[in-house]
Amino acid sequence: VHWQSIDVTREAHASQKGQSPRVLWFTGLSGSGKSTIANLVERKLHALGRHSFLLDGDNIRHGLNRDLDFSEAGRIENVRRVGEVARLMADAGLIVLTAFISPFRAERDMVRGMLPVGEFVEIFVDTPLAVAEARDVKGLYAKARAGQIADFTGISSPYEAPARPDIRIDTTRETPETAAERIVEHVIGIWSPD
Ligand code: PPS
Repeated sequence: VHWQSIDVTREAHASQKGQSPRVLWFTGLSGSGKSTIANLVERKLHALGRHSFLLDGDNIRHGLNRDLDFSEAGRIENVRRVGEVARLMADAGLIVLTAFISPFRAERDMVRGMLPVGEFVEIFVDTPLAVAEARDVKGLYAKARAGQIADFTGISSPYEAPARPDIRIDTTRETPETAAERIVEHVIGIWSPD
């Protein structure tokens, strides 16, 4: 297979949109608040006229990645594909938001390495297991504890927390709203709540 060069470059795509592409990579346990915060961030970016797109674990696993399970190999392939899609979207000039548990450091670092320096922003939604389990919004932790779900992250499958995330959100101390404002500020450098 030969690489086909394309005349309209990623720089041209980005400059037409008037923004710097980014991949805002949310990682954290199930029920940590990834989707909630990513949604809020995207709403704010959209309101500011930025071109964005949110890829969410639950949704992507209904389509593109419907063939993958939650085994180690399934999760590695899940994150690899999402990384490739995010890269393509960043090439198209978008601010991409991804909300996947993405439990393994190696795959998150792999995605970082696929992008130009500084374009990948790792956002650790740091909710302790006990807190996520107590919330148990989807009732999955109870099922995992009862042995009804195998390979459940934090219970019977590992989660490797980022050592040096670009942004860390302690959801026990910060509301989704202020976390989202902080992320937007980090990404575009300005934030005026009016
Ligand atoms: S991963 O680890 O990145 O491949 O997972 P992801 O694609 O983000 O999918 C996580 C959502 O799938 C549901 N679910 C499970 N999560 C963890 N472990 C197991 N075994 C599992 N089975 C189903 C769960 O609703 C996750 O959603 P979130 O939004 O993270 O709570």
